[in-house]
Amino acid sequence: MSVESSVRAVTTLRLKEMKDRGEKISMLTSYDYSMAKIVDTAGIDVILVGDSAANVMAGHETTLPITLDQMIYHASSVVRAVNRALVVVDMPFGTYQGDSQAALDSAVRIMKETGADAVKMEGGEEILDSVKRILTAGIPVMGHLGLTPQSIHKFGTYNVRAKEEAEAAKLIHDAKLLEETGCFAIVLEKIPASLATKVSAEVSVPTIGIGAGVGTDGQVLVVHDMLGINKGFSPRFLRRYANLYEVMTDAVSHYIEDVKSCDFPNEKEQY
Ligand code: KIV
Repeated sequence: MSVESSVRAVTTLRLKEMKDRGEKISMLTSYDYSMAKIVDTAGIDVILVGDSAANVMAGHETTLPITLDQMIYHASSVVRAVNRALVVVDMPFGTYQGDSQAALDSAVRIMKETGADAVKMEGGEEILDSVKRILTAGIPVMGHLGLTPQSIHKFGTYNVRAKEEAEAAKLIHDAKLLEETGCFAIVLEKIPASLATKVSAEVSVPTIGIGAGVGTDGQVLVVHDMLGINKGFSPRFLRRYANLYEVMTDAVSHYIEDVKSCDFPNEKEQY
């Protein structure tokens, strides 16, 4: 069966079924219509409209500056392209860490104005009131533990998290809380593989790893990183499946040469 003819869109329930039968879940980011069309047509299970858009689309150092309006713009562009994948949208920094009513208002805007399927939020116990309130409104929530880039100023580095016992114990506690509260999946970012495997075995909801080893129920990467569009980011966990930076630079250089030499456009390329 081709991906195009697949009648059933990926749902949160389907992800749980995949975990239960041991089928790994594939997830990639996308931030615009054209990329999301490619990623969805290739058959990805989940598309994350990540706040990493702040880095790869806007050139910011951290994910903190991106706004709710900007996330809504990216997410609605992605949703227009997608036929099959589940679309999850990151709630940006500052829209859910305080008042749970404000968190609900932000999540409702994302769902109403983008047509996405779910939201993702970084953190455990400290954001539980907001998670609960959003879930009560019927909005599916994906959790995110381990390295949570919105807390970079607290951590001080992008190094591996939860290597020490106390932080690992808190992470397990938080994962169980998110599961009990009703999150449909949890991203585990940059933690030891043994811890990610343990968490994945101890919670019934799917875990999606990034830099967390092969023991999670699925994997996620930033699409610009795995396609090799970014040259400057090479963490150990990143596998590059293409070198589009070079492919695209060559194509642009070739175009410039053709314009300068009057090779483009030729007779067949004019009216
Ligand atoms: O924003 C993002 O791209 C993410 C992934 C790295 C999980 O949160």
